[in-house]
Amino acid sequence: MLLVLFVVLLGPRSAGAETGHDLWLRYQPLPEAVRAQYSRAIGAIVIPLQSPTGDAIAAELSRGLKGLLGREIPRADRIESGSALVVATSSSPIVAALGWDAELRAGGDEGFVIRSARVSGRPAIVVASAGEAGALYGTFRFLRLLQTGEPIDALDVADRPRLARRLLNHWDNLDGTIERGYAGHSLFWPSPSESRIVDYARANASIGINGAVINSVNANPQMLTAPWLDKAVTIARLLRPYRIRVYLAANFAAPVMIGGLKTSDPADAAVARWWREKADEIYQRIPDFGGFVVKANSEGQPGPQDYGRTHADGANLLADAVAPHGGVVMWRAFVYDASVDRDRVKRAYKEFVPLDGTFRANVFAQVKNGPLDFQPREPFHPLFGAMPKTPLMAELQITQEYLGQSTHAVYLAPMWTEFLNADTYARGAGSFVSRVVDGSLEGKRETGMAGVANTGLDDNWTGHDLAQANWYAFGRLAWNPSLDASTIADEWIRMTWSADPLVVATVRSILLDSREAYVHYTMPLGLHHLIGGDHYAPMPENTDPRREDWSATTYHRADARAIGVDRTRQGSGFVDQYQAPLRERWNDPAATPDELLLWFHRLPWTYRMKSGRTLWDELVHTYTRGAEEARGLQARWIGLAGKIDDERYRAVLARFERQTADAAAWRDKCLGYFGTARAAPDPRHLLAHEGSR
Ligand code: GCU
Repeated sequence: MLLVLFVVLLGPRSAGAETGHDLWLRYQPLPEAVRAQYSRAIGAIVIPLQSPTGDAIAAELSRGLKGLLGREIPRADRIESGSALVVATSSSPIVAALGWDAELRAGGDEGFVIRSARVSGRPAIVVASAGEAGALYGTFRFLRLLQTGEPIDALDVADRPRLARRLLNHWDNLDGTIERGYAGHSLFWPSPSESRIVDYARANASIGINGAVINSVNANPQMLTAPWLDKAVTIARLLRPYRIRVYLAANFAAPVMIGGLKTSDPADAAVARWWREKADEIYQRIPDFGGFVVKANSEGQPGPQDYGRTHADGANLLADAVAPHGGVVMWRAFVYDASVDRDRVKRAYKEFVPLDGTFRANVFAQVKNGPLDFQPREPFHPLFGAMPKTPLMAELQITQEYLGQSTHAVYLAPMWTEFLNADTYARGAGSFVSRVVDGSLEGKRETGMAGVANTGLDDNWTGHDLAQANWYAFGRLAWNPSLDASTIADEWIRMTWSADPLVVATVRSILLDSREAYVHYTMPLGLHHLIGGDHYAPMPENTDPRREDWSATTYHRADARAIGVDRTRQGSGFVDQYQAPLRERWNDPAATPDELLLWFHRLPWTYRMKSGRTLWDELVHTYTRGAEEARGLQARWIGLAGKIDDERYRAVLARFERQTADAAAWRDKCLGYFGTARAAPDPRHLLAHEGSR
């Protein structure tokens, strides 16, 4: 059946101009035969939900079905004749009569079933949930079934999210700029773009995202003042029907900076009172406010350590303020105080592990996937599995700060699934990061995942049309961290581009190969941070005068003898932040996978790789291969000419042209630089640098 529909879906499509604004919710007309079949099953729509979310569901179904089926489907109060689609919660008599109550309760407010059933003796498709959020998610899932041409005559789908909090983190400044944003200005600031925010909410709800931090982690304290909170109220009102809660980034020094206090010391009673009153004020304006994210004592931000207190003291201060309202605090573990350890990647673990068990129950430690900073490849952060008593919110970066920004096509789901599927061995084999994050490994009830958003006011939201896939994939993985990158890609392609098998196969192959290609032509074999301040162009020579741990040379240490960082027991000892057998494996170059080799080891240029090549030859081989792969991605895209709309085809092609050129530049720059380092016995700047540590 699936095959039949699939073939029918190939009907001719118009190659009209598209801006990319509609994302994966394009609702293009389905081929006639499919339309007829679907239309027979959906004679009317019954939505017994009198609420803003009910209205959002009705509006989306009407828009979606009109687009896909080419006609308005009438709304009805009950099924009188023919067939119907019913979207309802347990409180509706229709659902009550079906006897699914226990099952729906078990699925929770966000879970749903989509099932073919008989209602009042008539055939129906029922989307049901214990709560309105589940009804909303079930509606979008049903629309996806239609968009991807699935059969709907014997439906039996049940799903629920594995993680409770599925958040976007917007690094949006109040002046409208976006830190590490590459797709235009902010949707939220300096004033909310209301119609865009509704479309943003629809897209998020369609993939299950249920929260948004709407200001940057480098938080402007003004955010917590009345004029800005008023704007947050507007944003919350627009997001609420789509079951997305607003969260805010808080500046730890706010009591001083906007509160007129002399201190922000967490041990000071007046400071505690200030935060409690601020939380009360926010909840009075935004009753479903989610809570605060805080970047403290990191990259110059204020924090509890300014007063000799710990991260737990700081987090608990804010946690106590929001606790009466059911709020949470996400306290970021992106800290790397140089006094803690010489090796930057060891610092967060050393600071946070001793605090495990001292945070309030409503505090998350928010931990980036890797221990450095969103590099193209890192081992998983050793805090995963090392804080059994503290909820950990995984922080991924959707915006491609270090991965080609909005110029290079890099599908991030393979990187994220590599992280989620990594085995921490915290409780023996099978202790995957995904099980730390979903709480199942250590019996945690608070669970969540945050993604640093790649959205902006660009027409297509993400700058690069293919970068929409990263927003989509983040939502899908936050809903179910066990999904695989290929399945997610297929869904996205069919809805966003076309069901033509050539298009699906080609775009899928581009997406799935893109991240590894990027690693190959930028930072292969475990190299990392080979950039300068823009985090875009190759800059292996970068020695940042401000901080040694912002320099590229710190992370490759290339000289005439060797390259890489020794993080073994003979070196920085970072390997011992991991459980056995990882620590033994990564302590031994022969047992370390090539992908992480120079992350953990400093090796001579003549080191013999698994391939039989020397390390230098392998580096040449991999950079060269990466640049060719970039050209290959472009060639595959060119094969889609005429198969997809011209506007997006050309926009993406232009970016591929730049990507191919950039990839060659990365290859040339890095091989030139490392080749010089290797050949010159006395590269003065390198030796000087080496001598300084
Ligand atoms: C990176 C990024 C910064 C950001 C920081 C963070 O270092 O370059 O712009 O502020 O991460 O996560 O806080």
